[in-house]
Amino acid sequence: MDYSKLLSKTVVDLKPSGIRKFFDMLSGLDDVVALTVGQPDFATPWHVRETGIISLERGYTYYTSNAGTVPLRRELSAYMKRRFGLSYDPMTEITVTVGGSEAIDLAIRAIIEPGDEVIIPEPSFVCYEPITRLCGGVPVPVATLPENDFKLTAAQLSAAITPRTKLLVLPYPNNPTGAIMTAEELLPLCDVLKNTGVAVLSDEIYSELTYGVRHTSIAALPGMAERCIVVNGFSKAYAMTGWRLGFVCAPPEITKQMLKIHQYAIMCAPTTSQLAAVEALKNGDGDIEMMRAEYDRRRKYIVEELDRIGLPCFEPKGAFYVFPYVGAFGMSSETFCERLLNEGRVAIVPGTAFGKGGEGYARISYAYSVKHITEAIERIEKFLKTL
Ligand SMILES: Cc1ncc(COP(=O)(O)O)c(C=O)c1O
Repeated sequence: MDYSKLLSKTVVDLKPSGIRKFFDMLSGLDDVVALTVGQPDFATPWHVRETGIISLERGYTYYTSNAGTVPLRRELSAYMKRRFGLSYDPMTEITVTVGGSEAIDLAIRAIIEPGDEVIIPEPSFVCYEPITRLCGGVPVPVATLPENDFKLTAAQLSAAITPRTKLLVLPYPNNPTGAIMTAEELLPLCDVLKNTGVAVLSDEIYSELTYGVRHTSIAALPGMAERCIVVNGFSKAYAMTGWRLGFVCAPPEITKQMLKIHQYAIMCAPTTSQLAAVEALKNGDGDIEMMRAEYDRRRKYIVEELDRIGLPCFEPKGAFYVFPYVGAFGMSSETFCERLLNEGRVAIVPGTAFGKGGEGYARISYAYSVKHITEAIERIEKFLKTL
C-alpha cells in the first residue's frame, strides 16, 4: 500500500502538538518533577461522581438527543445567565459537546471554507490552527506581546483583518499565559468588530478560574452576541477532564449548522457525563469556589518563588499557568526546557509549543500540590545556578 498516495496531504502536513512532543520526551525518564499538565489535580467532586454512578446503576445508558438532554441544556442556560449575564435559549442556542475541544471544532467547521482567514492570537491553545487548516482555512497568527500582558489590542486586530477574515479566536482566560481580558479591554475590540462581518469564537473554558476579577464574556457586551460563538465546558471548572463534556452557545442560525456536524460525527455527548453535569451545575458553585481559592494560593506562591529564583513572570489573572521569561540564559525556550528536563529533572513546556510569541517563555502549570511545586522550584533554582 502506498500510504503517501492514500493519506490526506492536509493531515500529513499537520504538525503534532508541541506539548505532546515534550510529554513523549518525559515518558522515558525517571525522577522527574513535572509541571506540565493542563488539568485540575482535584478529583471530580464526589456528589457529581455519585450522580454519574447512580445513573449507571439505574441503567441510563442510552443515546440522548443530539444537542444534549433538555434538563442539561436548561441548566446550562440558567448557568450562563447566572454566572456571566448571557442569555441563551436551551432549545435553539446550546449544544452539548464532547469537551470544549469538540465545541471549537464545530465552531470552526461551521464557518470556515477554503481560503477563509482565521485570526488567532498567540501564544494560545494548540488546536485552533490545525482545525482551521483541516477546513482549508488560513490561520493568521497575531503575536500578543508581553508589554501588553499578552492581551490582544484593537490595533493588532484591526491590522489583521482583511476582506477574507471570517473568524477571530478570542482565547481568554489564556492557556498558556494566564492573561485575561476585562470588559474595558474588550470594548475597543468590539468597536473594531462592529463594522465587519467577522464572527468571534470565544474560548471561555477557564472562565471560572479568574483571580480578583470576574470573567467577562465578549458576548455579554452590547451588540456582540449575534456574532459570538461561546465555547465552555466542565473540564477545568468542575475538574471533569475525563468526562469529556463541554458546550457551545451561539445564535440559532449558527447552532443549527454546528448541530449537523455534531449529529453526523458524534451523535451525542456521553450520557453519564450529561446526567452528572446537571448535578454539577445545580450544586457545584461551592466546589468551584474551593478549587479556585486553592489555585489562587498556589498562583501567588509560584509567582513569588519564580521571581525570587530569577525567572520573572507577569502576574497571571486566569487559568492555572504561569508564563515566566526564560530568555535571559542565551538559549531558545526549547533548549532551556530540554536542559532543565535532562539536567534539572523538572519538566515544563516551551512557550513555542503555543505558537508565535512564545519564544523566550515557558509554561508552568500550578495544578499541582504546593509540596510538588516546592520540590520543582528547588530543582529549578539549583539548575539555574549551573548556567
Ligand atoms: C484554552 C483551552 N480550550 C479548550 C480546551 C479543551 O478542553 P476540553 O476539551 O477538555 O473541554 C483546553 C484544554 O486544555 C484549553 O486549554
